[in-house]
Amino acid sequence: MQGNGWIAVARLEELPSGRVRGVDAAGRRIVLVHLDGQVYALDARCPHQGGPLDEGEIYLGALVCPWHNFRYDPRTGENVFPANVYPDDMPQLRDQLRAATCLPVQVRDGLIFVRL
Ligand code: FES
Repeated sequence: MQGNGWIAVARLEELPSGRVRGVDAAGRRIVLVHLDGQVYALDARCPHQGGPLDEGEIYLGALVCPWHNFRYDPRTGENVFPANVYPDDMPQLRDQLRAATCLPVQVRDGLIFVRL
């Protein structure tokens, strides 16, 4: 289902609070996150080394990649671990901390829409 660039990808009832779900939208793998009453969508490819964020889980409010346990804030895509423990004087490590790509989300009539 499409309209104005929005693509329906799941029913809200399929995404319980605190859970993660992978969906396909126009050939692109997306991870949906339901957290604190809001739904977020991110590109499912981990910006670290391409791990499957849609196979991750929520831990302490962050989306955890199953490959190396990097954690991303689902609201912003920002890396929140290990960004918080990398020493500032090792800038080469910072290259690994790219943010995940967030996508716009709408929930209407019990359906979750994303815009690519
Ligand atoms: S690929 Fe996701 S943490 Fe490394």
